Amino acid sequence: MKKKITVPEIRASKGGDKVITMVTCYDYTNAKLVDESNVEMILVGDSLGMTMLGYKGTVGVTLDDMIYHASHVVKGAPNTFVIGDMPFGTYNVSIEDAVKNANKLFMESGCDCIKLEGGSDVAPVIKAIVKAGIPVCAHIGLTPQSAAMMGGFKVQGKSLEAAQELLDSARAVEEAGAFMVVLEGIPKMLADVITQKINIPTMGIGAGAGCDMQVLVAQDMLGMNEWVPKFAKKFADLHKIIIDAYNEFAKESNERTFPDEATQYNAKIEGIENLK
Ligand code: KIV
Repeated sequence: MKKKITVPEIRASKGGDKVITMVTCYDYTNAKLVDESNVEMILVGDSLGMTMLGYKGTVGVTLDDMIYHASHVVKGAPNTFVIGDMPFGTYNVSIEDAVKNANKLFMESGCDCIKLEGGSDVAPVIKAIVKAGIPVCAHIGLTPQSAAMMGGFKVQGKSLEAAQELLDSARAVEEAGAFMVVLEGIPKMLADVITQKINIPTMGIGAGAGCDMQVLVAQDMLGMNEWVPKFAKKFADLHKIIIDAYNEFAKESNERTFPDEATQYNAKIEGIENLK
C-alpha cells in the first residue's frame, strides 16, 4: 500500500529522478480512487468552482466551499498528501486575516498544506502562514484568480521582462518559506530556468516536462469533457464511457431487460394475491 509522502520528502525530491505527481480531486469517491493509485498528491483546487459548481472561473469559491470539499477528500485518501487551496478573497485583505483563514482551512479540512496564488506580492503572507506552522505551496505564472487582471487565461512570462519577474517571484516565494511552487501556463524554456535556479521543487501544469513534479486537473486527464486545454492530455475517455453507460441503462430499462432475475429480490410472499 502507498505511504503518504511528507513535506520533507517532497522537498528532498528536488532534482531527483522520480517525478512526483498530483491530480485535482473534490470528493470522497474520487479521493478513494486516487488513494489506490500511484499518484502521490491531491490538490483540492479552487478549480472546483468550474468542475463542481459550474462557475466560469475560480472567483466566487468560498472558504467554506473549500473546507467542505477538502474535508471529504481527506477522509477518502488517508495515504495521499492533500493540498487545500486558499480561495480568492481569503488572503488579500491583511496578513492577519490570511493567517486566520489558513488556520481555518488547515484545521477544519485536515489537509496537509495550503496553496495560494501569487509571487513577490504575496511573499509576506506566505512568510506569516509558514511562521504559524502551516506548510505552504506557492503558485505563480497563470494564476486563475487573477484572470481578470491578466485579460483571461493566458500564457504568462513570454517577454524577457515578464520572465525575469516570474523568476524573481519564484525566488521570493522560496525565500518566504514555501516548500514547493506550482508553475502554471508558462513557456517550457522559462519553467526549466526557474526549476534550475531555485532550491524548492517546481510542479508544472502547462509548463513542460522539465519541472520537478507534474499536476493535472482530473476532469481534463480523465477526458470527462470533450474539450481539453492544449497542455492537458486525455489519459482516458470517461466522457464516452459515462454517456454510453447512462444510455445503456435508459435503453435496458425501456426494454424491461433491466432489472432482471439477478438484479431483483426474488423472495416469495405467501398469499400475495390476498392483498387488498
Ligand atoms: O485550482 C486548481 O486546480 C489549480 C491547478 C490548476 C494547479 O490551482
